[in-house]
Amino acid sequence: MKAVVVFESMFGNTRRLAEAVGKGLAETAEVRVVPVSRANSRLVDDADLVVVGGPTHIHGMSRPSTRKAAVDQAAKQPATVLDPDARAAGLDDWFAALGHLEARAAAFDTRAKAPAILTGRASKGIDRQLRRHGLRPVVDPESFLVDKANHLQPGEEDRAREWGQRLGRSTEAS
Ligand SMILES: Cc1cc2nc3c(=O)[nH]c(=O)nc-3n(C[C@H](O)[C@H](O)[C@H](O)COP(=O)(O)O)c2cc1C
Repeated sequence: MKAVVVFESMFGNTRRLAEAVGKGLAETAEVRVVPVSRANSRLVDDADLVVVGGPTHIHGMSRPSTRKAAVDQAAKQPATVLDPDARAAGLDDWFAALGHLEARAAAFDTRAKAPAILTGRASKGIDRQLRRHGLRPVVDPESFLVDKANHLQPGEEDRAREWGQRLGRSTEAS
C-alpha cells in the first residue's frame, strides 16, 4: 500500500504530528510525508491512502488572512519560529487545484486544548474537502492538542504515531 501524508504548518506542530503519523503508517505502508507545497498530483494520484492535516485557524481551516496573521505573530514573538514552508500555499489553495481522486483518506488537525465547540476543528473542513474530491475517509477526523504557549501537549506525538498505525490497519482491512 502507498500512503501520502500532506500537511500545512505555520509553527511546526502539524509538521511534527504529520511525521509521527507517517512513522505509524510505515508499519503497513510505503509512506511519503510532504508539505502541501510539494504535494504534487503525481504523488497523490499514486497513493492508496491520502492523509491531510493542518492547523485550526479561527475555528476552521486556515485561509490567506489567518496565515498572514500567523506570519505577523511569529515576527512579533522571537520564540515563535516559522515553519520553512509556512509562506507557501495553504490547504485551501491545494484543494482548489485538486482533481477527482479514488483513494481512501483521513483528516487531522492541531488545535488548542479546550472543548471543540469553542476551538473549532480544521479536520472537519479537511474531511469535507476530501469527500468533495471523491476521497473516502476510513476514520473520523482527529485532533491533536497544543497548550496556551502553542507547544504540543505531552504524549501527542505518540498518540499521532498510534493513530497512524491504526489508520494503516483500518485501510488494509477496508
Ligand atoms: C491566526 C491563528 C488563528 C488560530 N485560531 C485557532 C482557533 O480558532 N482554534 C484553535 O483551537 N486554535 C487556533 N489557533 C492555534 C493553532 O491551531 C495552533 O497553534 C496549531 O498548533 C498551529 O499549528 P502549526 O504549528 O502547525 O501551525 C490559531 C492560530 C493562529 C496563528
